[in-house]
Amino acid sequence: METNLEVLFTPADFAMLRNRDLSATHCVVFDVLRATSTIMTALANGAARILPVSDISDALRIRAKYPAALLAGERDGVRILSAQSGGVDFDLGNSPREFTPERIVGRDIIITTTNGTRALQSCCGARLVLAGAWLNLTALAKRLRNEQASRLVIVCAGTYEEAAYEDILAAGALSDLLWEQFAPKQISDSAHVARQIYLSAQSDVPGALQRHSRNARRLLSNPELCDDVRFCFCRDTLDLTGEMRDGAVVLQ
Ligand code: MLT
Repeated sequence: METNLEVLFTPADFAMLRNRDLSATHCVVFDVLRATSTIMTALANGAARILPVSDISDALRIRAKYPAALLAGERDGVRILSAQSGGVDFDLGNSPREFTPERIVGRDIIITTTNGTRALQSCCGARLVLAGAWLNLTALAKRLRNEQASRLVIVCAGTYEEAAYEDILAAGALSDLLWEQFAPKQISDSAHVARQIYLSAQSDVPGALQRHSRNARRLLSNPELCDDVRFCFCRDTLDLTGEMRDGAVVLQ
């Protein structure tokens, strides 16, 4: 029997979404460290639209169409530079702290990251696709309740081809907020696993990240990026949601 609350842990799982009819499904994509946290921060700070694309070449092609747009994104965690793009230094990396109002207000931003942007694209065809972050968990839950989302797939973007602990933690936290909305027999084992991970970590999230998240440890060991972990794990600082519309993430 198909379940109505489901969590996809890995890129191999979200790649299969293209074979499913998602027309009655709501999707939330988490790439907490850092693509979806960055996207939500950019929208909160006044960016007009965020256009997520999978490849550097797609980013350059779309920028040729929208010359006033900013280019953003990372490979191996750091800003894309001319050597990777065939001559163009990207304007921004993928640290949410770079996306200040001074730099981005009113601008369209084309972004390509290793996993987050392709996870968002994998949900195309869904009834609604939301960019999820620890920063807006409560707003996400509120929105999904208002939407009466009765079929929800939470997509964890992961790292390269693997699962990422922090995305599963966020999927578990959102599942926990929505738990009573779903009849027990409609809840998948994957949602139970994610929620249990969240419940066991909620009293000490920084400690859990340090112990279990390779991405968090990688960022924490980089003096320029270490503050991103604390930034991305401030809970509910944003009371807004961002959704995919015509290929771009925009505020509702
Ligand atoms: C991704 O999209 O894989 C991440 O956001 C990577 C990162 O920010 O380092």
